[in-house]
Amino acid sequence: MYGYSYAIVIGASSGMGEELVRHLAGDGTKVAAVARRLDRLEALAAEFPGKVLPFAHDVTDYDAVPALFQEITKQLGGLDLVIYAAGVMPAVGEREFDFAKDKQMVDVNVSGAIAWLNQASIRFENTQSGTIVGIGSVAGERGRYAQPVYNMTKAALATYMEALRNRLCKKGVRVVTIKPGPTATEMTAHLHMKGMMDASKTAEIILKKSRKSGEYFVKFTHKIAFTIIRNFPSGLFRKLKV
Ligand SMILES: NC(=O)c1ccc[n+]([C@@H]2O[C@H](COP(=O)([O-])OP(=O)(O)OC[C@H]3O[C@@H](n4cnc5c(N)ncnc54)[C@H](OP(=O)(O)O)[C@@H]3O)[C@@H](O)[C@H]2O)c1
Repeated sequence: MYGYSYAIVIGASSGMGEELVRHLAGDGTKVAAVARRLDRLEALAAEFPGKVLPFAHDVTDYDAVPALFQEITKQLGGLDLVIYAAGVMPAVGEREFDFAKDKQMVDVNVSGAIAWLNQASIRFENTQSGTIVGIGSVAGERGRYAQPVYNMTKAALATYMEALRNRLCKKGVRVVTIKPGPTATEMTAHLHMKGMMDASKTAEIILKKSRKSGEYFVKFTHKIAFTIIRNFPSGLFRKLKV
């Protein structure tokens, strides 16, 4: 259905990443599932014997990435899809400016993505094939009062992905940025929001959209709403306090 033979999903132990692994493995793709919580990855692998290979890894261990990338590719037997789904969004109070939390978001959401997707870029540029997917967010469309650094990391990721797309599309590589809206996962459990998207449904849409290079919202209504929001003058946006 999706047409991938070998994939790596980074951030595969919960939420969208876990559901991406389920959809891919269910579709016959051999998947390397990467995250820190090995027990969760092993439970996921047990659902799809021989199809899911678990790898314990902290994405902030940047120096380990090149060798691990090579090892995973060798164990899979090939590679045509890399999805970076790892991310953190700690709760941040309105009057909180906590450098440790901010740094963690930059380290995982941006630097980890660069460490992994640079490796994917090198390989796919050489093979003149492959698909790279980065999970951004509607939260990256504007700087909001509630989550300054999370917003910034998602905007940074989208800009990095756009630049990769501009470099690699000419070489036959697909580069896809997906910007989901609120989705029910561990990350958002503390928000107690109603009407969030289901992680499995979001994963399915991500894989469908991965078939063509570009930047995508998960919902058409998000595309309309965030195109308007993005073009609001800054002073007016500030008064909305969203
Ligand atoms: N949920 C939403 O509403 C929403 C909306 C838009 C975009 N997003 C984005 O979608 C992506 C997936 O989020 P989610 O909602 O599915 O969250 P989630 O359920 O909390 O999953 C986050 C994943 O990232 C991994 N991760 C975090 N820190 C890591 C580290 N240092 N090293 C390795 N892996 C790490 C976690 O694994 P371990 O803890 O096992 O390492 C987990 O597998 C994130 O980039 C998020 O920003 C989420």
